[in-house]
Amino acid sequence: MRVIVAKDYEELSKKAANIISSQITLKPNSVLGLATGSTPIGTYRELVRLYNEGNISFKEVVTFNLDEYYGLDSNNQQSYAYYMNQQLFNHIDIKKDNINIPNGMTEDIGLECKNYEKKIRQANGIDIQLLGIGRNGHIGFNEPDVKFEALTHLVELDEDTIKANSRFFASIDDVPKLAISMGIKTIMQSRSIILLASGAEKAKTIHHMILEKITPELPASVLQLHPNVTVILDEEAALLLTEGDLLEMEA
Ligand code: F6R
Repeated sequence: MRVIVAKDYEELSKKAANIISSQITLKPNSVLGLATGSTPIGTYRELVRLYNEGNISFKEVVTFNLDEYYGLDSNNQQSYAYYMNQQLFNHIDIKKDNINIPNGMTEDIGLECKNYEKKIRQANGIDIQLLGIGRNGHIGFNEPDVKFEALTHLVELDEDTIKANSRFFASIDDVPKLAISMGIKTIMQSRSIILLASGAEKAKTIHHMILEKITPELPASVLQLHPNVTVILDEEAALLLTEGDLLEMEA
């Protein structure tokens, strides 16, 4: 794992956007795996800025989002499809047909998940997968006690996740209890991964993810086994990593 400590959220967002934009420059038809939540908002803002300044084009880019709440359609303001339009897709030149997000309104979950995996394969896999991380160590919606071999599937959200995400809903009872999420295996098959974490509330999780044992109880710890992961932290999220830890990882 390569670990980069940015001085603040602003710098973290710029670094993440720069990595994604060089990927697009090197390969204009890149396949991007995208995340939602609070953490990547600054990265998307930066990508929109780079696009507006004429530095990058998304004309040939294909995207696959990590997850979607089950039962929310794309017009629902809390859906991840709506979020992606607001934060990124409405502001760039991506083709609608190149955007892939699990359909939270599907009547056949098994088929939806199978087709999602098929589409990723047909696109020749994900070049770069952007991830945030839950306080409980989830990536995508792969909650603690996850099966590392899982592909895209229906997941039951953890209580901690429902509580954390209730900030986006009118009440905690409105937070869906189920979601469709890429599995750990889907994520691990990406050729490269960028994981972002900001704020002190993620510091303990980040310490475990990077330095402690690989366990399904902290799903993100599996990333220690991936050959090409870049972790970008702000100083608060890196609070529990010593300089020695960081140097050792560079070696
Ligand atoms: C979002 C996702 C989640 C979030 C995680 C962190 O698509 O899959 O794993 O990345 O819950 O969320 P924030 O960034 O809001 O702390």
